[in-house]
Amino acid sequence: MLKVGSVQLATNLLLAPIAGYCDLAFRTICREQGGLGLACTDLLSPQGLLRGTATSLDLAQTNDFDRPVGMQLYGADPAIMADGARWARDHGATIIDINMGCPVDKVCKKDGGSKLLCIPDTAAGVVAAVVAAVGDTTPVTCKMRLGWYDDQPVAEWLAPKLVAAGARMVTIHGRTTQQKFQGQVNIEGIRRVVEAVKSRFAEIPVIGNGDVTEPEHVVAMMERTGCDGVMIGRGALSAPWIFRDAWALQTTGIVPRQPERPEILAIMRRYFDLMREYRGDHYAMFQIRRRVSWFVKRFRGPCKAFREEVRVATDAAAVYAAMEGYERAEFAAVAGDRGEAETGDLVGAAAG
Ligand SMILES: Cc1cc2nc3c(=O)[nH]c(=O)nc-3n(C[C@H](O)[C@H](O)[C@H](O)COP(=O)(O)O)c2cc1C
Repeated sequence: MLKVGSVQLATNLLLAPIAGYCDLAFRTICREQGGLGLACTDLLSPQGLLRGTATSLDLAQTNDFDRPVGMQLYGADPAIMADGARWARDHGATIIDINMGCPVDKVCKKDGGSKLLCIPDTAAGVVAAVVAAVGDTTPVTCKMRLGWYDDQPVAEWLAPKLVAAGARMVTIHGRTTQQKFQGQVNIEGIRRVVEAVKSRFAEIPVIGNGDVTEPEHVVAMMERTGCDGVMIGRGALSAPWIFRDAWALQTTGIVPRQPERPEILAIMRRYFDLMREYRGDHYAMFQIRRRVSWFVKRFRGPCKAFREEVRVATDAAAVYAAMEGYERAEFAAVAGDRGEAETGDLVGAAAG
């Protein structure tokens, strides 16, 4: 079973930080579906946390159900990162993760994110400072890419250096900064990082990450790279139950029955309710409008009109009405209204 320093995880499956998507509401629905061992906040600015800016505090929102949770910090100043880590520890973080993968200019031009891959001594210094600040109680982990340039695989020698500085887990996204999110994940690159860490620090978990969208991909990632666990990002946005499925596959060899449309709608409704509760209607409306297309990816049958109805909704009542209409249409289809369901639009059928 996967252990990160002193923290025992219930499974070896992790929800990736996806800035703007993996908020407390989304982490909650993933946890409710089961199988999730560790979730993480979006990347957080330690300065923002220390100053108490509203954006940073919103992003760091957590609660007792949201455990264990990693809070991910970015930056290159050891003292500020250490202060940010103390703040995160005191505000609910089970684990402090240091971002060494973000390719965005705004982060890299201040030497944060994946720029740390280019300044290894600074990267190790940040880890050492954060470990010194919180390491006894709160394990420190690093999430990194393979390197900055495609032809310079830095992570395979930097990862052991970070562990030597005190990191208790390494997550490796199998792409370089140059690649951003293009192309396929480099499985061999991940395998080399796993091997490099394990050859010196057998007890340190290494997590593979990239392009895992089905439970079978989790098993393949582990078999092909030797990693201890798998982190899933985009694959969870359309299937927050992927952790349950991947855990079932690992432990029983069977993937559970996939949720039907009414169950997916119930998860979507719950997500909307939680966002309203945690962040208010304005935020919930913004998110549900852009997230609806992720949820409908797994729907079978026509869903264009439903998606549009949610996208143009101007208030929460309109979102609920769209969901109810779509659910009624599903019920009508099951009850035998096959002609409408198969050839026409389900929301239109329900409204008619
Ligand atoms: C929109 C977007 C935002 C992301 N934000 C973060 C972030 O805040 N911190 C981080 O470490 N990685 C971030 N990532 C990278 C993901 O955590 C993950 O490494 C990457 O998407 C590959 O995994 P996947 O194929 O399972 O999505 C982001 C990725 C995307 C697409």
